[in-house]
Amino acid sequence: MHAFRFPEDFRLGVASAATQIEGGDTNNSWYDWCCAGHIKDGSTTLNANDHYHRWQEDLDLMVSMGIRHCRFGVEWSRIEPEEGRFDEAALAHYRTEIEAMVEAGVRPLLTLHHFTNPRWFEAMGAFENPRCVELYLRFAEKVVRAVGDLVGEYITINEPNVYTLNGYFGGGWPPGKNSLGAYRTVLTHMTACHIAGYQMLHRVRREMGYDDTRVSFANHLRVFQPYNKLVPLHRFFAWFAEKAFQGGISRAMCLGEQVFPLKAHPMIQKGRWCDFHAINYYSRSTISGLKDGVSPNVPVNDLGWEIYPDGIAEVCRKLHDITPLDIYITENGTCDNTDTFRSRYIYEHLKALSESDLPIKRYYHWCFCDNFEWLEGESARFGLVHIDYSTQQRTVKESGKFYSEMIAQHGVSEELYEQYCRQDYHTAEEKL
Ligand code: BGC
Repeated sequence: MHAFRFPEDFRLGVASAATQIEGGDTNNSWYDWCCAGHIKDGSTTLNANDHYHRWQEDLDLMVSMGIRHCRFGVEWSRIEPEEGRFDEAALAHYRTEIEAMVEAGVRPLLTLHHFTNPRWFEAMGAFENPRCVELYLRFAEKVVRAVGDLVGEYITINEPNVYTLNGYFGGGWPPGKNSLGAYRTVLTHMTACHIAGYQMLHRVRREMGYDDTRVSFANHLRVFQPYNKLVPLHRFFAWFAEKAFQGGISRAMCLGEQVFPLKAHPMIQKGRWCDFHAINYYSRSTISGLKDGVSPNVPVNDLGWEIYPDGIAEVCRKLHDITPLDIYITENGTCDNTDTFRSRYIYEHLKALSESDLPIKRYYHWCFCDNFEWLEGESARFGLVHIDYSTQQRTVKESGKFYSEMIAQHGVSEELYEQYCRQDYHTAEEKL
């Protein structure tokens, strides 16, 4: 039996991030990082999906596919191009786009910060600078005052752990640092921003007359397993990686606990700082030292990430055990450049969720259209919709058709499974 139905109150949507789709903005940290030659295929954020101009076309396509929930972001560097100078035209642009979305029956979930910073903010040290809390808050308040009547659900910050690990401990992302001290400081400041943002969003929307505000941060969670369970060092590193990468930040951002690897900060006080759990899940890490790894002979995607569907329910359980809240999967998806196993991937992750008894309310697929995939540039495709980067032509993939039919059925029938999901995965060894 492959068929299953989603619970009545479960909804499917799609996710994206401003810098990865909009194109055209040269005033942010990632554009500079691209120009410094860090992107594998030499592409930059300038092109992306040209969504800033084509948002209506993308919205129409989304609606035609039956998609009624959309997680998306705003670009801070467009809204505040210089410190303290806000661009009303940029705010108006986002307002127009969100109005059209709401009008079309698509419910927005708005991300305020997703990896990129305005150039001026990056130059002052971004989230390493203690002033970040005041600056992030001022920007976030501008946004909510501009669109708060249209948007009730917010993600304050996307994946603080991924941003911080890649940018401050490993050096692969801007600003290219490699310092445990900076890693801890940035995580601490981001937690302070989240908690202050949580309070501000509730306060401002209350002042605007709304009491349905829901706020969280997008928490990138992985399953960590020791490479060899019999080796104590492997077990230790798996435990440590879990704690340093996600365990501490989950407790700090959800409950205001001051735990390792965070430092003390006056804003980090006990409380409940999330209205729902927002989980981004992609893969499992197999650990034998301080590096990420993959077990031999397991299915992997085109970037070599293990495909481990049960993990999505395992990470939900972990977070639910920290504090029980509604769960939104705010990202899940895979790099499948030829769209040959994406439907199976989606099916298996949703099946794992449907078998769980946890309060899982939403699933936002990452992502709607292929887009600018950070260091991979335009070479790694995660979308339900194919983008031809030279013409910007959008074409719904087979997985997009599957997604759309799944929404219409509110589940997966045996026929739908047979039509789309009998696909093969490959191991890294087979791909060699
Ligand atoms: C990020 C996205 C990214 C996706 C796939 C997530 O960690 O939030 O921006 O494109 O993973 O790598």
